[in-house]
Amino acid sequence: MQILVTGGAGFIGSHVVTALHTVGHRVRVLDALLPAAHGPDPAPPVLPDGVEWRHADVRDRAAVDAALLGVDAVCHQAAMVGLGKDFADAPDYTSCNVHGTAVLLAAMAAAGVPSMVLAGSMVIYGEGRYECPRHGVVRPGPRLAADLDAGRFEPPCPRCGQPLAPGLVDEDAPADPRNVYATTKLAQEHLAAAWARDTGGRAVSLRYHNVYGPGMPRDTPYAGVAALFRSALARGEAPDVYEDGGQRRDFVHVTDVATANAAALDALPDVPPGTLRPYNVATGAPHTVGELATLLATTCGGPAPRITGAYRLGDVRHITASTARIHTDLPWAPQVPFHTGIPAFAHSPLRR
Ligand SMILES: NC(=O)c1ccc[n+]([C@@H]2O[C@H](COP(=O)([O-])OP(=O)(O)OC[C@H]3O[C@@H](n4cnc5c(N)ncnc54)[C@H](O)[C@@H]3O)[C@@H](O)[C@H]2O)c1
Ligand SMILES: [Zn+2]
Repeated sequence: MQILVTGGAGFIGSHVVTALHTVGHRVRVLDALLPAAHGPDPAPPVLPDGVEWRHADVRDRAAVDAALLGVDAVCHQAAMVGLGKDFADAPDYTSCNVHGTAVLLAAMAAAGVPSMVLAGSMVIYGEGRYECPRHGVVRPGPRLAADLDAGRFEPPCPRCGQPLAPGLVDEDAPADPRNVYATTKLAQEHLAAAWARDTGGRAVSLRYHNVYGPGMPRDTPYAGVAALFRSALARGEAPDVYEDGGQRRDFVHVTDVATANAAALDALPDVPPGTLRPYNVATGAPHTVGELATLLATTCGGPAPRITGAYRLGDVRHITASTARIHTDLPWAPQVPFHTGIPAFAHSPLRR
């Protein structure tokens, strides 16, 4: 197939490009080389031989129209990522992620491109799945600053206030985006679903969990926690762990995310026309942020993590995934477990 990969110069996109190229697809990359991701004076990406390069923005309709010529499917990775600096970033996030996706889908509708794989995100769930011994599955609301200030990080049962047991979230869990970025990632899915309904197209949203691996951006306000810890250790400093380090996440290696994209493109014909099918992309084996910091620090021979008790209001306590659906539907399984992937990451190159 001829595939257009948007955001193909980014951390995950560049691994997706390699994976698609390796299995024999013809690949075209479109990326705006946003300063937030690539710095003020970005160089064009180094791409595998035969991969076409377009330096353009997904919001630029004419550039997108041109990039879609002859394309069978779009793999949409382009987005502004992370929590950002503060609410002042909101218009930029919505412009890139929501407006950008709308322009891309409108161009796909006009060009008759019938298939999209979207880089979705677990952030759309908000807090993960929780069970109360008395009330069964419950949905805790946003945590209160007063609780967090007092070191009460676990969200209590919204009905009886008792402690909850965290579990694995599946794709049918209701969405509950807790910050601007999460809101835009949910909007992208809704737009892709509306496009599919309207055009009879097929879409898959791959809801990535916490992706790490070579080429991950360094410590910017937009970087993931693994890169922040890794950058601190590279400076000889202890990684600063928010809350008490007990936050549970699913850390999935970027090469596994890339092969999930290849598998999803192959499986698109099985998606009923006119629909979007979401999948969690994760290992299914949760770890805590504290474990991550400790394993990185040990591997780097650096100072032990510092548990700060500080917090960010938009963060959720636990979010970990059930991977039952992707294992049922796609011939995909993650190949890099936490206990080998994280030590390797401790020494792999970061971007910039
Ligand atoms: N990193 C994670 O843990 C994670 C988790 C869940 C979902 N995702 C999603 O995966 C995708 C890739 O993220 P990443 O971590 O590789 O980030 P990244 O910043 O490294 O890559 C994103 C790329 O998109 C490009 N881009 C952004 N806006 C654009 C626009 N308007 N037009 C053209 N190009 C544009 C950027 O220049 C960049 O190269 C994003 O959609 C993100 O929401 C990432
Ligand atoms: Zn209860």
